[in-house]
Amino acid sequence: MSVFNYLDGLLHCDSVPLSTLAAEFDTPLYVYSADRLRENYRRLAQAFAPLRPAICYSVKANANLSILRLLRDEGSGFDIVSGGELFRVQRIGANMAHVVFAGVGKTEAEIEMALRANVGWINIESEGELRRVNELGGRLGLRPDVAIRLRPDVEADTHHHISTGSSASKFGVPAAGALELIRAPLPNVHIRGAHIHIGSQLAGPGATLQAIDVALEFIAKATALGAMIDTLDIGGGFPVPYRGDDSVPDIESFAAPIVNQLAHWDGGLHLEPGRYLVADTAALITSVQYEKRDSSHRLIIVDAGMNTLLRPALYDAYHRVLPVGRIVNSPYAPADVAGPICESADFLARNRPLPPLNSGDLLALLDVGAYGFAMASNYNSHPLPAEVLVEGNTYHLIRRRQTYEELIANEAANT
Ligand code: LLP
Repeated sequence: MSVFNYLDGLLHCDSVPLSTLAAEFDTPLYVYSADRLRENYRRLAQAFAPLRPAICYSVKANANLSILRLLRDEGSGFDIVSGGELFRVQRIGANMAHVVFAGVGKTEAEIEMALRANVGWINIESEGELRRVNELGGRLGLRPDVAIRLRPDVEADTHHHISTGSSASKFGVPAAGALELIRAPLPNVHIRGAHIHIGSQLAGPGATLQAIDVALEFIAKATALGAMIDTLDIGGGFPVPYRGDDSVPDIESFAAPIVNQLAHWDGGLHLEPGRYLVADTAALITSVQYEKRDSSHRLIIVDAGMNTLLRPALYDAYHRVLPVGRIVNSPYAPADVAGPICESADFLARNRPLPPLNSGDLLALLDVGAYGFAMASNYNSHPLPAEVLVEGNTYHLIRRRQTYEELIANEAANT
């Protein structure tokens, strides 16, 4: 059940009315439930418990320090993809042994920063990167643990922008190429892991199971070549039901066949969940500015747009839209919801039943905790929104709204 529910006709996050938060912090506003975040972490950990995984939260889904700190307190490690994400997990005092550094384009400076920080693992995406890590390891007198990311040549059933396992993808190396890397004489890296991540919002576990087979076969062959691969990282991709129905498997049904398949795997296991942990923890609150109507079309213009929540414009993603004040006895009529940005793609939702709305009324977009704020931008020079974390019946601001001064602060002509 959602943590966003109507109480006395007003949409709440846990026991806090969203209208109270909008009045205090203005809109657009991201609102998160701390309780739901903990619940999601524990539920995922429980679903995979027989495999005793190291859960490395994928920071890219939502990098707010308060979210990271809360997950650290639950025992989470982190999956990072940039120097900036490393800086964040260092700032919250993450246990570096539980950090995996992934990403297809790590620069020399980022790799050096990661080596100096003693991150637990570097997930290698190409031969060039492995050689670079080897060289930097030599220079720093270190021999980091690395995992090779395989491109298992499976096609995940998801949006083509977020499918990563096929042979045409830019990620990882084919299994045959990975075996060549095992043979290469590189004394300053310790190849100890195999990594896969085949996509995000996966429709079911099938493609992951296939990719795990590819990884296990690779490990067997690498072992025959004398490698000692004792860790398997199966990435993230666990789906959430954006439409509020049960058309996607829950985490227990997703995990069960994986747990089965790996019953005899006695090495370490890494998971990199992003979306599953954070998506349903948050709603985006936005206020209605105008309603435009013609005979066939009802359009609601709000103060959040593709700059605040990019997913609908970029992936045709679906987010439920609810009025914050439940309007009873009013006819709901279909409407599109669009933002203020000067782009035809700037829609948040299409053809949704909504009650009559006036300027200043509030709407909530649900399940925006993953890749919501994380993909927000300053396009059209709109300041980044604020974020609030609800803890039961209290709340606090975890990011204040960006100011106009901050918007121009780095520019030379800012006098
Ligand atoms: N591990 C790796 C190597 C990844 O590339 C990703 C996501 C994850 C883990 C976490 O995946 P998750 O559990 O969140 O599905 N912006 C898109 C999603 C991009 C995912 C990128 N990689 C969206 O809004 O749907």
